[in-house]
Parts: sequence; C-alpha cells; structure tokens
Amino acid sequence: MVLAQDNSLHVGKLITSNECVPPSTAVSHVTDRFFNTAHLDAVALVESREPVGLVTRPKLLFTLFRRYGFELYGKRPIITIADTEPLTIHEDERLDVAIDKALERPAENIYDDIIVVDDGGHYRGLLSVKQMVVQQSNALANSVVQKEMASERAKELEKITHIKSQFIANVTHELRSPVNAIIGLAELMRISCEKGYVDQLRDRLSLLMSSATNLRAIITNILDLSKVEAGKMEVICECFDVVAILREVAETTRILIGSKPVDVGVVVHDSPVFIVADPVKVRQILTNLTSNAAKFTDKGKIVLALGVKDGTIKISVKDTGIGIKEDDLNKLFTAFSQLEDAKTKRYEGTGLGLTITKSLLDLLGGSISVSSKFGEGTTFEVYLPRHTRGTESPL
Ligand SMILES: Nc1ncnc2c1ncn2[C@@H]1O[C@H](COP(=O)(O)OP(=O)(O)OP(=O)(O)O)[C@@H](O)[C@H]1O
Ligand SMILES: [Mg+2]
Repeated sequence: MVLAQDNSLHVGKLITSNECVPPSTAVSHVTDRFFNTAHLDAVALVESREPVGLVTRPKLLFTLFRRYGFELYGKRPIITIADTEPLTIHEDERLDVAIDKALERPAENIYDDIIVVDDGGHYRGLLSVKQMVVQQSNALANSVVQKEMASERAKELEKITHIKSQFIANVTHELRSPVNAIIGLAELMRISCEKGYVDQLRDRLSLLMSSATNLRAIITNILDLSKVEAGKMEVICECFDVVAILREVAETTRILIGSKPVDVGVVVHDSPVFIVADPVKVRQILTNLTSNAAKFTDKGKIVLALGVKDGTIKISVKDTGIGIKEDDLNKLFTAFSQLEDAKTKRYEGTGLGLTITKSLLDLLGGSISVSSKFGEGTTFEVYLPRHTRGTESPL
C-alpha cells in the first residue's frame, strides 16, 4: 500500500493529543483525569521526556471495575497497570507504514493510541487509530479524484494535440499553394521580361497579385486568431448603417461566386438601420459567413437578411449549398477544425473563419447559431446588440 507520499500524511502532523503523566502518578489520579476529560482516550507515561508506557481508557476501566480493583490498584503507580511496550513510531514515518504497523498488533491492542517520538526518542504526542483511518480514507479519495483529473487532462491534451497537428497540416497546405504560385509566377515573369513579352508580363503580374493577396488573407486570419486568444483585439465602435454594409458584402459575394449559377439576394429595410458597433469587425463576421456560403454553394441562392427587434439586430446568411451533417454542427466553431481532413479536402481554407467569427461576436456582445440540412443548405444567424460597449472611435 503506497499512499502517503505527501508530507501532510506523515504521522507527526496527525498527532491528536499530547496527554502524559509521570509513571509514578497514582492510578486514582489518572482515573480522575479520565473522568474529568470526556474526549481523553489514552495517556502516555513519560519519564525524562521519554515514553515508558501507555494507559488507555477501556483498559483502565476494565482494571478498576474488576472486583476490588479500585482498592487494589487505586494508590499504586500507574506504570503497574500500563502497557509498557506500546507501539512507538517516529514522527517522520508515513501514514500508510504506521497503519500497517498498527494492524500487525494483537487484536486486543488494535485500537490503542500510538506514541509518536522525535529523532531523540522524545515524546511528541499520541495518534489515534480513528484519526489515521480518517486521514487514509481522505488520501485514498483524493488519489482517486487526482487520477481521474489526470486522465481527463491527458484526454484533453491528446485532443488539443490532434487538433493542432491537423491545423499545421491544413495551414502548411494552404500557405504552400500561394507561395508556390508566387515563386512559379516570378520565374515566368523573369522569362517574359527577358523576351520582352509585356502583355504576358501584365497577366502574370495580376495572377501574382491575387496569390499574394490570398496569402495575406491566410496570414491575417492566423494573426487575428492569436490576437483574440491573447485578449489583444480592440473594439472600436462607431455609429453606422448596417444595411449599407450588408449590400456591400452581398456585392463582394457575387464576385466570389464568379460564374457559378448562384443568385445573391439581400432582404433589408428600405431605410438605413443605424447601430453602434465596430464596423470593421461586423464586416469581417459577415464576409466570413458569405465567403463560406459562396465556397460551399454550387447552385441556387445565397440570401442575406436583416431583422431588428428591440435592442438587437439579427442577420442571417442562408445558402442552398452542400449543407452540414448534424454530427458536425458542434465542431464548426472549434479552432482549426475543418470538416474534411487535409489530405482529402476539396475546398480551400484553414478552418479558422468560423472560430474567428465566433470570437469577434463574443467581443461585440453578440452570438451566432447555425442550422443545416446535409445536401440542402445552411443558415447562419448572427445576433448583435444595437449598441455595443467598447472604445468609441475618435472620429
Ligand atoms: N455555409 C456552409 N456550408 C457548408 N459547410 C460549411 C459552411 N460554412 C462552414 N462550413 C464547414 O465548416 C468548416 C469550417 O468553416 P470555416 O469558415 O471555419 O473554415 P474554412 O472556410 O474551411 O477556412 P477559412 O475560413 O479559414 O478560409 C468548413 O471547412 C466547412 O466544412
Ligand atoms: Mg471560411
């Protein structure tokens, strides 16, 4: 049995009393002491600081209440009826070792208190068996709880490690594509330059620009997330028309759709709807949602809609794209998680968009919910207070 490896479980720290009398004390005197002190279970006999015996309440009473017991023993020194070889343990002994020693005693002594001594063999006090058992049960319970906590932590760590390695695989893949494109295009541009092909040079330059822009977007996403996680993302509020932002975001979505047969519609009030929030972050939230809708929808429509109720606005982004399986819905806002793995995935992305979106909404005091039918489409709903608390823009 190895339980008490902790300092707090050494017997010296568990001493319950330091009652003692000289061995020459009269039995009647010690009896009075037991009668006057209800909680007293035992008294050590100590001479020149060294323990020489132990008297326990049950044994004293047993002796005295025998026929003529008091008359025979009352005036004698207590040592005559004491146990002169009590279990004596060093104060630095571990609790589990002490318990093992206590249990090795003959049955009639098993509940007797134990005498605790220091390095010099000097009396330190008494330790009750009841106290030892209570302390050991606590240690046992703690060790079970600690083991359970450690295994929970190990599981959590394993999950984080898995998510992080998946993230590194995705990010490396995503970063490599634009970097390779940039290097390849630069080489081709050098050749165009040498040959004096200006038109070809212009085309390649614009492809290079778009690869570099893509690369910047990925790096910005990663930086944004680490900023939010470090609590360094600032909220700068101003009053703006959210309808105008919705229309602009819809326009950008149309560009992302390109030649796919997908309509992009906006359902909003005719009049402007002013809110106080951080416009850069609101735009980023909506762009993340619409860029997903554009990416995962091959035909049908994407609709952005705005609703206003009391002090809250609701913006929904609904698409008729590939949809999300019910089991996958709760993974969406977990950092670095994509529903496809790096090797098999067909769609570009680092799996950070929705995590950033959720963190930005937390910062703005808003929330997000999702509903989806696999194969039919997805709707994200964003709720925002009309007045966000934050630093007001100096403008
Ligand atoms: N509208 C949607 N329809 C279907 N699946 C979606 C939709 N939006 C998100 N998903 C799923 O959720 C995953 C996580 O989305 P998220 O925006 O966080 O990352 P991403 O788009 O893959 O990458 P990033 O946004 O970093 O470029 C996506 O990979 C996709 O599997
Ligand atoms: Mg995305």
